[in-house]
Amino acid sequence: MPDERLTVGICGSGTMGAGLAEVAARAGLPVIVRGRSDDSNAKLVATMTASMARQVAKQKLAQDDMDAALSRVRTTTSIVQLEQCDVVIESIVEDLDAKLGLVAELGAVLKPQAIVATNTSTLSVEALAQRSGRPGRTVGIHFFNPATTMPLVEVVRAASTSDETVATAESFARRCGKEPVHVLDRPGFIVNALLFPYLNSAVRMLEAGTASMPDIDAAMKGGCNHPMGPFELLDLVGLDVAVSILGALHRGFGDPAMEPAPALRALVAEGKLGRKTKQGFYSY
Ligand SMILES: NC(=O)c1ccc[n+]([C@@H]2O[C@H](COP(=O)([O-])OP(=O)(O)OC[C@H]3O[C@@H](n4cnc5c(N)ncnc54)[C@H](O)[C@@H]3O)[C@@H](O)[C@H]2O)c1
Repeated sequence: MPDERLTVGICGSGTMGAGLAEVAARAGLPVIVRGRSDDSNAKLVATMTASMARQVAKQKLAQDDMDAALSRVRTTTSIVQLEQCDVVIESIVEDLDAKLGLVAELGAVLKPQAIVATNTSTLSVEALAQRSGRPGRTVGIHFFNPATTMPLVEVVRAASTSDETVATAESFARRCGKEPVHVLDRPGFIVNALLFPYLNSAVRMLEAGTASMPDIDAAMKGGCNHPMGPFELLDLVGLDVAVSILGALHRGFGDPAMEPAPALRALVAEGKLGRKTKQGFYSY
């Protein structure tokens, strides 16, 4: 499937949906975003526009290229509008039932050769592959946050994923300017399986009163050369997303260290989800 003919569908208009739409549109690909409401679609376009305007102000993006990228993005609330897409990336809430329902709908409306991709951070790609009705053409294409700047994409091969689908996913990632790595379908893939036990341990260290939040963040930046401390990173990722990822790792590996720390759960229960709600471990 030649790259230049790929029409990209994106389901979900949250943090990652907006990033994916911008990345694909700036790579020159036509994009159709399917959100749940006109309001969420309008917010996605506003997020993309603000993101690109910042790049234009910094002279990292030409105004004409921004305008061209925006002109490549269409939004809809109707799943049927995705029927012309070659690759559809679902990037809705990290909830298996919600994603299973969506991929079944996608399987029914997409053309037979189209690929269903998931941006899930931890859920079983094989479960989604079976439900999509096109198991060979279902794959994980896991972008990182913020999708516009993070270079990595994990291409996740489920048991049923065909070689051709993996190759298309890899070339799509490269076309988007990303560096793909390959991984089998295990909870958390490579990065999250290694990263989230560390983030959870930082929360437990805070709970134990071992050190303050700014000092834990400063220690990991100054001592390990990490660009962000664990609490800064948790707030960027979204605390609800972090609890979902840890829950999936805990279920998948049965390791008690992966059970979401109480302080993390408490913030989520209060609706303090990190940067996206202007309040998480820190206030924004
Ligand atoms: N946030 C990150 O750092 C990050 C990084 C990589 C991958 N991901 C993955 O990307 C996906 C989306 O994450 P996000 O951070 O954009 O989340 P988000 O909360 O910003 O957006 C979630 C989107 O899902 C929609 N949604 C919620 N419930 C739904 C339902 N029942 N049915 C259909 N749509 C529903 C919302 O309207 C919204 O558009 C998840 O699978 C997540 O694991 C997130």
